[in-house]
This record gives sequence, structure tokens and C-alpha cells, in this order.
Amino acid sequence: MNVLKITGGTPLKGHVKTAGAKNAITKLLVASLLSDKKCTFYNVPNIGDVDVTVALCQELGMEVKWDREMGRMEVVTRELKTSYVPQRFSGSNRIPILMIGALLGRTDQDIIVPTAGGCLIGRRPVDFHIQALEQLGATIEYREMKREGAYFAHAHHGLEGANITLSYPSVGATENTILAAITAKGTTVIRNSAIEPEIVELILFLQKLGANITIDADRTIRIQGTRRFYEVEHTVIPDRIEAASWGMAAISTRGRVFVEGAQHVNMITFLNKIREVGGGFDIKSNGIEFFYDGPLQGGLHIETDVHPGFMTDWQQPFVVLLTQATGSSVVHETVYENRFGYTETLREMGADVSSFKHCLGGKCCRFSSMGYSHSVIVKGSTHLIARDIKIPDLRAGFAYIMAALIASGTSHISGLTFIERGYEGLYKKLVSLGAQVETLRREEKRDQTNLYFNSAPKLLEPILIDDRVF
Ligand code: EPU
Repeated sequence: MNVLKITGGTPLKGHVKTAGAKNAITKLLVASLLSDKKCTFYNVPNIGDVDVTVALCQELGMEVKWDREMGRMEVVTRELKTSYVPQRFSGSNRIPILMIGALLGRTDQDIIVPTAGGCLIGRRPVDFHIQALEQLGATIEYREMKREGAYFAHAHHGLEGANITLSYPSVGATENTILAAITAKGTTVIRNSAIEPEIVELILFLQKLGANITIDADRTIRIQGTRRFYEVEHTVIPDRIEAASWGMAAISTRGRVFVEGAQHVNMITFLNKIREVGGGFDIKSNGIEFFYDGPLQGGLHIETDVHPGFMTDWQQPFVVLLTQATGSSVVHETVYENRFGYTETLREMGADVSSFKHCLGGKCCRFSSMGYSHSVIVKGSTHLIARDIKIPDLRAGFAYIMAALIASGTSHISGLTFIERGYEGLYKKLVSLGAQVETLRREEKRDQTNLYFNSAPKLLEPILIDDRVF
């Protein structure tokens, strides 16, 4: 496993290009399974989560031609090879659970899908997904199995459009419901749906594919079922999480970075907070330049929320930025109950961050009185000191890299697989911005089966269910 050796204290300066959005392309690949037509994607990021999703789709019968240098990917699933998602993908990322929606739209056969994974930032249940799909007429059952559980689903007689109200605007549940509704008979109405830009991206893709979909201003999505599909060419939107990450890294290291591809329209809430903390930015037609514009001022109140609120995935690097701002700021995480675990390491580096189980800042969220540390107060500015760090998850990973870039001394950062899941060419980009960074190769055996998984390697032998491999 490689280790990043970062010596802090050098301002980042230069130009980086934002890659295509991880949380868009992975869903577009799943959506393309609905049809047997060719889909061509541009601006495809060369990252671990795309590798995992491609591997998963190939298992189901997708043919994939991926030019990683050009960011071009051509996919077609002429026929489904199987509707059992192999068990070894259990825990890989959030994609397996979305396969239920896509496969229900493609086959009336039994479907088996292993449990979803992704970063360990909360319990991350899938109850909203299951309830919505059941309302469309699917039968879904979770069964404990010899090694671990799986979802068994089917719609032998097809799906029927329904009126669905999500109890929370979950990104994944909205996507799963949209995917299933595409081929359902009649109209599906999803109320209280998520409307993140990556969901709008999915809708744009599905409209090109043949679907008739509208989004109302009040979080209502309407889908008219269809089975007539077309070939699609689609350019993936730039990753607004990566764009913001480089912006925060530029400001916190007192540098200046032009982030090509950063889209103003999808970063409004973020830019407001950057202005409030005293960071500089200049919006151009092809990106945003971020720069240090004098001492940073704390006193902010940030509440993460669903779109158009402040993204939970911007929260971790923003906390690092706040360690460099004078005064106290409050950050209240309302999307995930357990997304401040990384602050312990920041404290060890010298940051003054205190955690609270209450909802700080006025508004009560779903996690009030549940005992989760989901608010923090950050007092700054503080001098950070380098240390060796093992990355626990993707977004905490970038926060640690930022902290190491600011800190005095040299940090060694391991667990880079998590970062490679979502940040394309991180090392090269750091070098091009003038960071003092090196990769060290550790003489550990690299286990190919464990490249992208959170926990122990999945060395599961395939098992047979009704003579079919799972
Ligand atoms: N939730 C439930 N039940 C459900 C579904 C969700 O209780 O059935 C809860 C979750 O536990 C969480 C909240 O609802 O507390 C939000 O979950 P959501 O379903 O919106 O998130 P997701 O689809 O699992 C995606 C992104 C995340 C991003 C969130 C929120 C992908 C692959 N992941 O996750 O991105 O933080 O939406 O915007 O699209 C990342 O990229 O690092 C990442 C974690």
C-alpha cells in the first residue's frame, strides 16, 4: 500500500481540473442497465468507485470499453447474464442496492443483491429504498444467509406506477425509485425526493435514454413509464465535492488555485460560506479561482443538509479550514449521525474541536436526543502539527491531507485506497500545485481482492441458489 509523505507549510498554487462526479457516473452506469442500447460517457473519472461499479455491471452482462486517458466510456448491456449481484460486492460501495431498481426494470426474474457498503459514517439503512420499491409492486425480502445477508427481490408481474412520499429526501432512495419507475406501467410521483445536482444529472441522462420525467419546484419528481430506449451520449458533470476540496486546500494553505470545471450553480451554498470565512474566490466562465485573501474569520454557523443546503461531503475539509480561522464556529451535521470521527486526529494535530451530542445552532435535526456526537465547535486559529495518519474514509481522507498540507512538519498518510475511490490523480494534482509530497511504497503484499472494500477482504466462494451462482 502506498503512503503519502506530506511536508506542510507550502501554499498550493496553480491550476487543477475537476474530474467527472463520482456520485453521478456510478449511477449513470447503473441506469444504463435498463436498456440494451449503447451509451457513451465522457469526462468519466478514473477512480476506484468507477472501477468497482464497472466490475459489478460487467458481472451482469455489460460490455465496457473504457479509455481512461480520454475519460471516454462506451457501455452496452445487450442481454442480462444474471440478475444475481455477486456476493463479493457486498460492502463495496452504495451501488449494489441501486441494482434492485435497475434490475426490476430490466427483468421479471428473481433478483439477489448483497448488502450495500460505502464509508462508515453512520448506520446507513436502506429502509426508504425498500418501502418505495414495494409501493411500486416489488416483493423484497432481506434474508440472513450463511455468511451475510442479502436482499431477494422480484416483480414477476411487472411494476405499476405509484404515489410515493419519502420520509427523508434520501439521495439513494430517490435514485432507486426513479430507476424502478422508468419501466413501471403508468405514472410514478415521488414526493419529498432528493434534488441533488447528481440526481438532476441522472434525470437528464434518463430523459435522453427515453424516459419522460419532470421535477417540480417542491421536490416532486414525476416519471412516465416507458420501454422504448435510445442510444445516449452524455458528458458527466464536474465533481462539486472535488472542486470545493481544492478550493478549501488553496485557501487554508494561503495559496491560489484555479479549479477548472468548478460550477458556480452547484456551489452556491459553499461559496457563501467561503465568503463568510473571508476566503477569496473569483468566478470565471470555465471554473473558479480560490485564493487566500487575508486572515480568516470564524464565527460561522454551518448546518449540513440536503441540496440546496450545505453538503455533508464539504463538511470535513471545511472543519479543517475553520481551524485556521480566528474565533469559534459551530458545525451541525444533520445528514449522517456519525461523521465527526475524524476530528479526533485533528485534535491530536493541535486543533481545538469539541464534539456535542446536542443539535447546536438552533435547529433540531433527526438525531437530537439520540446520543450521537453530531455537532462540533471549532476554535481557531490553531497551529497544526504533522503526524502519521491512517485514512478511515473518503472525505475524512481529504480533510487529513489538507491538515497535513497546513501543518508544520512531515506527515505520513496511509489508507490511500479510500481517497482513490473518489479523487482522480490526487498525487499528480498535489505535485502540480507545488505541495511538498512524495509517495512511499511500503513492502506490504497488496491484496487485489481488498482494493476497494472497507473491511476485511471478501474472499467469498460463490454459492449456488437454485443452481445459479451468487
Ligand atoms: N437513510 C435512511 N434510510 C434509507 C436511506 C437513507 O435512514 O433508506 C439515511 C442515511 O442513513 C443518511 C441519510 O438518510 O443518514 C442520507 O442518506 P442518502 O440516502 O441521502 O445518502 P446515500 O445515497 O447513501 C449519497 C452519496 C454520499 C452523500 C449522500 C448525501 C453516493 C454514492 N453517495 O449517499 O456521498 O454524502 O448521498 O448527499 O452517491 C461520498 O461521496 O463520500 C458520500 C458519502
